[in-house]
Amino acid sequence: MIIEPVVKGVVARSAHPFGCQQAIRNQINYVRTADPVTDGPKKVLVLGASSGFGLASRISLAFGGSMADTIGISFERGPSEKGVGTAGWYNNIFFREEAEKAGLIGKNFIGDAFSPQMRQQVIEYIKTEFGGQLDLVVYSLATGVRPNPETGELWRSSIKTMGEPVTGPTINIETDTMEQMTIGTATPEEVEDTEKVMGGEDWASWIDMLSEAGVLATGCKTVAYSYVGPKATYPIYHQGTLGRAKAHLHATADQLNEQMSEMGGEAYVSVCKALVTKASVFIPAFSPYILALFKVMKDKGVHEGCIEQMQRLYAQRLYGKDKIVPVDDNRLIRVDDWELEDDIQQQVSELMVKITPENFTTMGDYQGYKTDFMQLNGFDLEGVDYQADISFETLTQLVA
Ligand code: NAI
Ligand code: NA
Repeated sequence: MIIEPVVKGVVARSAHPFGCQQAIRNQINYVRTADPVTDGPKKVLVLGASSGFGLASRISLAFGGSMADTIGISFERGPSEKGVGTAGWYNNIFFREEAEKAGLIGKNFIGDAFSPQMRQQVIEYIKTEFGGQLDLVVYSLATGVRPNPETGELWRSSIKTMGEPVTGPTINIETDTMEQMTIGTATPEEVEDTEKVMGGEDWASWIDMLSEAGVLATGCKTVAYSYVGPKATYPIYHQGTLGRAKAHLHATADQLNEQMSEMGGEAYVSVCKALVTKASVFIPAFSPYILALFKVMKDKGVHEGCIEQMQRLYAQRLYGKDKIVPVDDNRLIRVDDWELEDDIQQQVSELMVKITPENFTTMGDYQGYKTDFMQLNGFDLEGVDYQADISFETLTQLVA
């Protein structure tokens, strides 16, 4: 079969396995020549390792100087009657292959990170096959649902405001159109549920469990990712349900930091740049901002993708030269510093008001936005034979 891109709205319904392989290789090549992570961690667990920031973290820590063995947990689907499977499925496979070629462990666990069974399996593996202890735990899950560990009932996150409803344009990648969309005001229950899904509770429970199992090494660090953004996007993000959940995540970092300090450990949240990922394309009314931001940052030569962000985080912040992790007044690591520079934001806000449904494909960086989206799913990458006839057997023989 010839594997073609299929997009529904902002969701990819197909993925190109060998394009995903190429994307992994491109990221590895980048970190191999970038400012390296020195004195970094050797044994790393990444929750949410198959795409976006989690995958970039894993690549940075394995190939960007630290030579870390990694365990990656993710929720992905392999080939079946339903289709070729998800991009993350292939990312896991090809990451592991490249890691093994470099003499590193790249163990994949595919399944629900919230389930007790997954936790037990991972602990068992750390104890029996991974050397017994972790130096770093990266928490990079992004999801819309989380089961209540007590009852199994599902909490669902919603992307809503906490004040007035906001109407703004959002991109439909399938049709290359910009459509008006209104984000309503969250109910108190929706606010709470979003905090349950995207706040810090599950992160803390993982750290507690790993700590009780005795698999956190002395000096172990943990990091989770957040977004803040400029004032213009506060109503839809920072001061909305997602921002509220992130505030909970930030508070969790402080709590974990105190807990972990007893064994010389540290916990942080890193605030990252707005980027195109499987998760972020869902945020309504956010796309004009991203289109303007990409354009301005590329013009200025300071644009970064997930991999550049993560390499900078690990090489210069979490394992930086002066051993003390630089943080802001709220104890947050800021790798969104370039995004938020005054002159960048000045130009972004000037450009944003000019972007309309008629001109967005040229006025903003829609080309870059769409290419990023396609590449997340293994399409539009140079050096991949998209006409190749790929058999289903070839795909089912690839193992996670
Ligand atoms: P993503 O969608 O690319 O990755 C999410 C990962 O979580 C995938 O590996 C997925 O398989 C895994 N996952 C989801 N549910 C799971 C489950 N039940 N069990 C196991 N694995 C599961 O998302 P992205 O954008 O990389 O997000 C990661 C973090 O970075 C999030 O906390 C997000 O808020 C944050 N962030 C994202 C920004 C962006 O612009 N994309 C900006 C700043 C922070
Ligand atoms: Na270092």
